[in-house]
Amino acid sequence: MHTFNRSASLNRRVLSVGSPRLGRPTVVTRHLHVPIVLGFLFTFLLAISASYIFVVPSLKHTFIGDSISQSNESTSVCDVSDGSWVPDDSYPLYNASECPFAEQGFNCLGNGRTDEEYLKWRWKPKNCAVPKFDVHAVLEWLRNRRLVFVGDSMSRSQWESLICLLMTGVEDKKSVYEVNGSKITKQIRFLGVRFSSFNFTIEFFRSVFLVQHGWMPRHAPKRVRSTLMLDKLDDISSHWIDSDVLIFNTGQWWVPGKLFETGCYFQVGSSLKLGMSIPGAFRVALDTWASWVERAIDRKRTSVFFRTFEPSHWRISDQRIRSCNVTRYPLLEASRSDQHVLADIAEEVVKNMSFPATLLRITSLSAFRIDAHVGNWSNNPSVPDCSHWCLPGLPDMWNEILLYYLLTNHE
Ligand SMILES: *[C@@H]1O[C@H](CO)[C@@H](O)[C@H](O)[C@H]1NC(C)=O
Ligand SMILES: *[C@@H]1O[C@H](CO)[C@@H](O)[C@H](O)[C@H]1NC(C)=O
Ligand SMILES: *[C@@H]1O[C@H](CO)[C@@H](O)[C@H](O)[C@H]1NC(C)=O
Ligand SMILES: *[C@@H]1O[C@H](CO)[C@@H](O)[C@H](O)[C@H]1NC(C)=O
Ligand SMILES: *[C@@H]1O[C@H](CO)[C@@H](O)[C@H](O)[C@H]1NC(C)=O
Ligand SMILES: *[C@@H]1O[C@H](CO)[C@@H](O)[C@H](O)[C@H]1NC(C)=O
Ligand SMILES: *[C@@H]1O[C@H](CO)[C@@H](O)[C@H](O)[C@H]1NC(C)=O
Repeated sequence: MHTFNRSASLNRRVLSVGSPRLGRPTVVTRHLHVPIVLGFLFTFLLAISASYIFVVPSLKHTFIGDSISQSNESTSVCDVSDGSWVPDDSYPLYNASECPFAEQGFNCLGNGRTDEEYLKWRWKPKNCAVPKFDVHAVLEWLRNRRLVFVGDSMSRSQWESLICLLMTGVEDKKSVYEVNGSKITKQIRFLGVRFSSFNFTIEFFRSVFLVQHGWMPRHAPKRVRSTLMLDKLDDISSHWIDSDVLIFNTGQWWVPGKLFETGCYFQVGSSLKLGMSIPGAFRVALDTWASWVERAIDRKRTSVFFRTFEPSHWRISDQRIRSCNVTRYPLLEASRSDQHVLADIAEEVVKNMSFPATLLRITSLSAFRIDAHVGNWSNNPSVPDCSHWCLPGLPDMWNEILLYYLLTNHE
């Protein structure tokens, strides 16, 4: 009975769809697994042969949904963000209770979550395959390298996810340590984990807006307590330069509750921009980021990524009360939220750069995963959380997509 229910519901749920913007949900069921496996090798070879095109962002939109014909697929560019979630029992890839770098707040199973279906989904792009995580290949690839995540707590969870994924391939767990012996906390500005037998580090810098936060300027109106200096990149940015891989994100903090309602307004140069909208300011900040990348980063050495906005799944009642209902299964259809605007802006800014930065376009694929949030299985169950994600879980897929770009582009 249980088995029947599970597979029936999986068949109904499988596949959600690529970018909501493109519409046209496809439905794939378990029966398609064999062709998917066969298609894997084929598309993987195509992906490699076409990989030189991946770095040309302006070509990323040259195909839309069904207009791609099978016959000349090799000339099209794979859009990793267009695809579907398929059930996959080989997930999850690690146990957060056995990974010292998964913070307790994200360890949903460890905090009492009992349903496990949310752990068993894999993102399948329509026109290419994200290779299965191969821990030994990735550990070898990372040897002698420095990989740096910069951003908010979403970056921290991706940082934790990558370390936990990699620790499954390390025999001597003691050889992996935080360089300063720091504990993971919400406010900490720097965390660096070294895999000493492979001579690489994976670091996290907390910079929730990427630009500088400053104190109240002189002669400002009373309500202004601090400003975001949109034309100045965070003052810790000098620490990010000397790295092999840089992965940025920002987005969750660009809301009135974290800005205007705390007395934080925007500033460009010495002038206050009291009327500037949040999306407008976000664009100025990302332009600042983009010109910093062009100026400061050595494109021969460093691969630069920007991860697009991670959608939250709060329900807002008529009384404006937020609630969080984490479900057992992904959504069948994910609607576009207002916050997708921030993903669109990131897309425009990155497309316009001459530096070959790569967008990790995870907004649409994450929008389906209402089942993957922390909910009330955090270390503080009285405050439900429909923003952050369980580990293991969705951030693991963000990392598999990141590694797809890294390992494909460098082979
Ligand atoms: C690929 O297909 C598109 C549309 O079907 C066509 O316009 C284009 O010329 C084809 N390209 C090649 C190289 O065959
Ligand atoms: C994860 O590890 C913990 C501690 O070793 C163990 O108690 C738990 O059963 C494991 N969970 C799973 C899902 O394997
Ligand atoms: C470790 O990696 C660094 C680069 O990150 C390199 O300069 C150094 O030589 C490596 N050490 C060893 C022992 O390979
Ligand atoms: C942490 O470690 C880094 C690199 O080893 C070092 O530069 C930094 O000063 C340390 N920070 C603290 C707070 O100890
Ligand atoms: C939560 O969502 C599920 C599925 O959408 C629904 O059946 C259930 O009633 C919801 N629970 C609450 C408390 O709203
Ligand atoms: C956690 O949330 C679920 C619904 O998402 C609810 O059924 C459950 O009672 C909640 N548990 C606690 C401890 O609040
Ligand atoms: C693209 O970059 C150029 C300069 O590099 C700038 O003038 C232009 O406004 C940018 N366009 C967009 C859409 O950001």
